[in-house]
Amino acid sequence: MAETCTVRPLTADDLPTLLAWRNHPDVRRAMFTQHEISPSEHEAWFAHAPSYCARLIVEEGPTTIGFAQFNNVAPDGVSDWGFYARPGRPKGTGTKLGQAALGHAFDTLKLHKVYAQVMTGNLASLALHRRLGFIEEGLLRDQKLIHGAHHSLVHFGLLQHEWRAGGTVRSTI
Ligand SMILES: CC(C)(COP(=O)(O)OP(=O)(O)OC[C@H]1O[C@@H](n2cnc3c(N)ncnc32)[C@H](O)[C@@H]1OP(=O)(O)O)[C@@H](O)C(=O)NCCC(=O)NCCS
Repeated sequence: MAETCTVRPLTADDLPTLLAWRNHPDVRRAMFTQHEISPSEHEAWFAHAPSYCARLIVEEGPTTIGFAQFNNVAPDGVSDWGFYARPGRPKGTGTKLGQAALGHAFDTLKLHKVYAQVMTGNLASLALHRRLGFIEEGLLRDQKLIHGAHHSLVHFGLLQHEWRAGGTVRSTI
């Protein structure tokens, strides 16, 4: 029988594992900030978390499968999220990570809306947002300058009632 995924707050004990994942090339190339994060930078990021952000570890049984962060957390709030799954994971892990994190976001944090901006070259994240029921709300052309190249972003949004309804997958791109 498949293990149930659970969500808990990030702790200092998670930091070494999280830094290794965050610095993995597959994760770095998906981020807006792509330099290699030093241990001191990582510790400062952990120590200075804004009170309105939720940093979460998702576990499947005893295995940590990923990390998710929701910003601008408030009841009925509109929050942007970021996430990454454990490098080397089995297929389907990102979907489990997203479902568990979004369940927490809407049921526990009581968010109204979650949104994301995904680089058009990040095919896995584009597919994952569609699978999770996000609606494509627009294309931001050449929006992000990273290492001298402009990247276009797909803006995705998911409302609480859409999540509760199971999500409908629509595609405009
Ligand atoms: C995005 C991420 C979490 C997806 O994790 P995953 O374990 O590959 O996810 P799943 O196996 O559940 O697959 C989800 C969907 O992505 C698709 N996918 C996965 N890897 C893919 C790839 N390299 N190219 C195209 N599609 C891919 C799967 O086929 C699936 O699509 P489907 O629902 O149409 O079948 C993972 O790639 C990751 O951590 N990436 C780096 C961080 C990142 O991109 N974060 C998001 C920033 S916006």
